[in-house]
Amino acid sequence: MKKCLFYLSVIALALFVSVAPVSAKTYVVGTSAGFPPFEYIQEGKIVGFDVDLMKAIAESQGFEVKFQDISFDSLIPGLNAGTIDIVAAGMTITEERAKVVDFTEPYYSANQALLVKEGSGNTLTVLFGNHNIAVQTGTTGDLWVEENLEKTGILTGKVTRFDTFVLAIQDLINGNVDGVVLDTPVAKRYAAEKPVVMVAEIITGEQYGLAVAKGNKELLEKLNKGLEEVKTSGKMDELLKKYF
Ligand code: ARG
Repeated sequence: MKKCLFYLSVIALALFVSVAPVSAKTYVVGTSAGFPPFEYIQEGKIVGFDVDLMKAIAESQGFEVKFQDISFDSLIPGLNAGTIDIVAAGMTITEERAKVVDFTEPYYSANQALLVKEGSGNTLTVLFGNHNIAVQTGTTGDLWVEENLEKTGILTGKVTRFDTFVLAIQDLINGNVDGVVLDTPVAKRYAAEKPVVMVAEIITGEQYGLAVAKGNKELLEKLNKGLEEVKTSGKMDELLKKYF
């Protein structure tokens, strides 16, 4: 009887060991939805190219990801505070940002663009004189407008800075602002879905990267390896086809 119990417990232990999942590390990925097709809300969920890309990288490198939607200008502070581990938000690699966070190899190229309301007859000239422009706070579009239009006095109207592009585009449709400056791929997507038109492209030559806290070499390496694998396996092309 004792022997029997012993064997049973050995079998039970063996079963437990074989079905117990190997617990993979979960990284918190910060993003800022409202930037279609990179990240946006659909049926209450954060979806998009960056989300699928992060999931593919995680799968290739054997970790799990959990997404957190926060305002764009809180992403870098979040990395530094340790509340998020990775930024996947169509974030442009810039010298300034690279001083405080570490970027992966680039995964997408973009420029800036100008959107105006459909039927308004507005053109590139809304960037000059007494016009009102909207941007998303802390983006490269925000910086471009500040450096090139506000500081130079080319634009004398108001610049409204929004937490999300969803709000900026809504303000444009409502007729409260004359133009929105944002990344070209996202401008094109909004133009396809909303009564807005892209009337100019501003060549800024930006490249998007994923970001981690400064010095987090281990995670940066995993992300770069994952990116490489996603590219060589054909998964990247599949995602590009799905979203663009
Ligand atoms: N590429 C621009 C930047 O880095 C805009 C990114 C906005 N991203 C977002 N998820 N809202 O500043």
